[in-house]
Amino acid sequence: MKTILEVQNLCKSFEDAQVLSNINFTVAEGEFIAIMGQSGSGKSTLLYSISGMDKITSGNVLFCGKDISKLNDEKMSEVRLKQMGFIFQHSYLLKNLSIRDNIILPGFKAGILSREKVNQNADELMKKTGIFGVAGYDIKKVSGGQLQRAAICRALINHPDILFGDEPTGALNSSTTREVMDIINSINEEGTSVIIVTHDAKVAARASRLIYLMDGNIRDEIILGRYEGNEDIKLFREKKLSEWLTKHGF
Ligand SMILES: Nc1ncnc2c1ncn2[C@@H]1O[C@H](COP(=O)(O)OP(=O)(O)O)[C@@H](O)[C@H]1O
Ligand SMILES: [Mg+2]
Repeated sequence: MKTILEVQNLCKSFEDAQVLSNINFTVAEGEFIAIMGQSGSGKSTLLYSISGMDKITSGNVLFCGKDISKLNDEKMSEVRLKQMGFIFQHSYLLKNLSIRDNIILPGFKAGILSREKVNQNADELMKKTGIFGVAGYDIKKVSGGQLQRAAICRALINHPDILFGDEPTGALNSSTTREVMDIINSINEEGTSVIIVTHDAKVAARASRLIYLMDGNIRDEIILGRYEGNEDIKLFREKKLSEWLTKHGF
């Protein structure tokens, strides 16, 4: 398996407070990683550091074989726009634009695909995520679940190599969470690597590998393997995971 991301001795401090110390891990292409840990353990900081949203204090982050930790802001923004997708707890869609316009905007901005292809891709993504029927709606007119699906479509418009999510289901109820995670699992099945932060064991059970963060260090990890199989296997994964989390006092 090819490596998509390699994090080497990553440290991150804010003023004099060290938040991440000596983080090392490697992500293979197609993996789905969930980062867990108590509030304040550095999960979001880790996600922003490895995706170039935050400048790191020391260490290296190799993305698709290239060291992105030394890129200037302009070059880093380009990598983020063209090769990475992001979703957060809230969708951060632009007001006064339709669902469709929000989704195609980063496609036009990146200029990798023709406008026609961007529109086609938007249609396919909206159909796949079940929001095609509300494509023309103003973002104020749709539900939270639909907004988050639109955010996923926007994140995927340029066919990124990796999708990052910081508590992407944090504001959703359990049935919407399940639907959104089904979408993320299917994107992952199609080959996009995924790294999400979550504190929900059911969400984490969708990942192939889990990293447990404590006080800015990786304390442990567990490999669950691909998310597939029948309901019994799914329940078994959740149980295995919750035992592991209990062990860590979560
Ligand atoms: N921009 C910032 N400036 C100063 N301290 C920060 C900043 N962002 C995060 N921190 C600190 O870093 C630590 C980890 O925060 P964070 O990564 O948000 O944790 P988590 O996502 O696990 O809850 C916390 O102590 C937080 O106060
Ligand atoms: Mg956080």
